[in-house]
Amino acid sequence: MIIRRELPGDEEAVTRVHADAFAAHYPDGEPVEPGLVTALRASDAWIPALSLVAVRDGATVGHVCCTRATLGEQRVPVLGLGPLGVVVGQQRAGVGGALVHAVLAAADALDEPLVVLLGHPGYYPRFGFRPAAELGIRPEVAEWEPAFQARTLTTYEPAMTGLFTYAPPFGEL
Ligand SMILES: CC(C)(COP(=O)(O)OP(=O)(O)OC[C@H]1O[C@@H](n2cnc3c(N)ncnc32)[C@H](O)[C@@H]1OP(=O)(O)O)[C@@H](O)C(=O)NCCC(=O)NCCS
Repeated sequence: MIIRRELPGDEEAVTRVHADAFAAHYPDGEPVEPGLVTALRASDAWIPALSLVAVRDGATVGHVCCTRATLGEQRVPVLGLGPLGVVVGQQRAGVGGALVHAVLAAADALDEPLVVLLGHPGYYPRFGFRPAAELGIRPEVAEWEPAFQARTLTTYEPAMTGLFTYAPPFGEL
């Protein structure tokens, strides 16, 4: 398996990854994640260097992206991670972990200070995520805690606190 940046032409494969990965979360309908990625890609929040695919035996089996989000009244630029998806047939084989490690390293190399996500509290702490509340970072929806988690990077400063706001396409889910 290799992890690389998403390139022009990967869009349909990325859509298929999320449609498959998230299908079980929507027993009565279609997953929103494929459309969310498409909307993010078309928005100002998209950061091409932080959209990564996992390719195994020539097939795209996973995808993750980080997009521009803001923190506090000063609207400090930070990152929101997601969606993260791995096709069902390749789950629990290290693909998701490889994507998360890679996108965090890429974000750090870009001097991004902080990555925030809404995700399973049993999965993300292994990558250095901790409850965002411990850092004084709060979600737009109070009920999101404790799934609301943050990972600090090299340029993080403790003054980076306040309300976290995802890129606009997330609010249109
Ligand atoms: C969550 C997901 C991205 C993880 O990717 P993956 O390639 O399957 O994960 P990895 O192989 O790197 O890690 C596997 C380990 O992660 C943990 N893990 C995986 N999915 C988990 C989940 N939903 N909740 C808690 N722990 C989970 C397990 O400990 C697993 O180890 P185990 O097989 O020994 O039990 C993938 O399962 C997926 O796409 N799921 C559907 C979409 C989704 O829920 N995305 C995340 C939204 S926050």
